Amino acid sequence: MLGNFSYCNPTKLYFGEDSLSNLREELPKYGKNVMLVYGGGSIKRSGIYDQVVKLLDEGGKNIFEDPGVMPNPTVEKLYEGCRIARENQVDLILAVGGGSVCDYAKAVSVSAHCEEDPWEKYYLRMEDVDNRIIPVGCVLTMVGTGSEMNGGAVITNHKTKLKIGHVFGENVFPKFSILNPAFTFTLPRYQMIAGFYDIMSHILEQYFSGEDDNTSDYIMEGLLKSLIHSARIAAEHPTDYEARSNIMWIATWALNTLVAKGKTTDWMVHMIGQSIGAYTDATHGMTLSAVSMAYYRFIMPYGLAKFRRFAVNVWDVNPEGQSDEAVAEEGLVRMERYMRELGLVMDIRELGVTEEMLDGIAAGTFAMDGGYRAPDHDEIVEILKASMA
Ligand code: NZQ
Ligand code: ZN
Repeated sequence: MLGNFSYCNPTKLYFGEDSLSNLREELPKYGKNVMLVYGGGSIKRSGIYDQVVKLLDEGGKNIFEDPGVMPNPTVEKLYEGCRIARENQVDLILAVGGGSVCDYAKAVSVSAHCEEDPWEKYYLRMEDVDNRIIPVGCVLTMVGTGSEMNGGAVITNHKTKLKIGHVFGENVFPKFSILNPAFTFTLPRYQMIAGFYDIMSHILEQYFSGEDDNTSDYIMEGLLKSLIHSARIAAEHPTDYEARSNIMWIATWALNTLVAKGKTTDWMVHMIGQSIGAYTDATHGMTLSAVSMAYYRFIMPYGLAKFRRFAVNVWDVNPEGQSDEAVAEEGLVRMERYMRELGLVMDIRELGVTEEMLDGIAAGTFAMDGGYRAPDHDEIVEILKASMA
């Protein structure tokens, strides 16, 4: 393990079919005023809303609702949430939904008592929090982002065509998260599959960096193998509890900071995907799947040894008698075949991207240099063109 680091993850997890009842022991830790944050209504249709409200009532809480958090939450919605939290002197923000709802809750938690414009402070200037933070708890209904156990809070500004994630510190992580795999059964197939690829992408973004012998890589290979196995089963049988519960657990560990330890990490697929999201408002996981193959084929020559290892250890490619390039390429071929088998979006045009947008998407892509080779503007345009094949 290279580098110097600390590790602490303060989020308490409750996992399993009975996990929602644990709200009973969490709620007394916070004041009376609870802001209940959710999305466009799926939790009302599934009955999760009624279960949560019952527990809040039993706990004697005053509920202030903040519904309508959209996928890829906007800066305008953030301002609205800040008003609700401030005006009602909220003691706890309870997020019930997917990554968008959890991210939004964290963004409100740091912004409600912020004297400045939170978009400028946290997203444009990337400053740390120096004001009161409202505690957040999550009840997760969509699997993929890892938002339930990290400090990420991605906000989209459609006016400036920027989608930016601020990864806040441990003081902003959810205090607790409730993970009931059965709550994810009602997800539409498109969202479910997008979430599966979001998980895979999180792991790959961290795996494809560095050349040292690093325990994090071995953990990630295990997570990938379990994900590939379970996602195949869940794609066929979405209500297979064993598969869905494994996937839920993998998603959390893929992005709760553990496997990033000792790694420089890449994140360019996410940066390109986020910029596509700013232009199209497309589903996050699909923005990643649509550019991944072009990106990894671009980067492979610069990280050949790792791509060879990926092919052998994750995709069971037999390296005997083959060049490193051939082995590495076969790994990517198998990955692409698997992605198509799941039904992922593999062409950015399907997400609404047009030729005219490519320059702007590349310009809105934040450059990261932790991977094997940071692509420049023109190379990002080439990767985008290759994602239209
Ligand atoms: O709004 P509702 O009606 O709840 O519907 C949602 C939404 O339309 C629906 N849904 C969620 N759970 C459901 C359900 N429908 C039926 N049954 C259920 N159980 O699914 C749709 C998508 O939900 P959303 O929360 O937007 O998806 P996801 O979890 O993928 O979150 C995406 C957001 O997270 C950010 C993305 O950029 C995007 O803004 N990310 C956050 C990260 C983090 N915190 O670290 C990292 C990720 O890379 C990602 O960037
Ligand atoms: Zn992601």
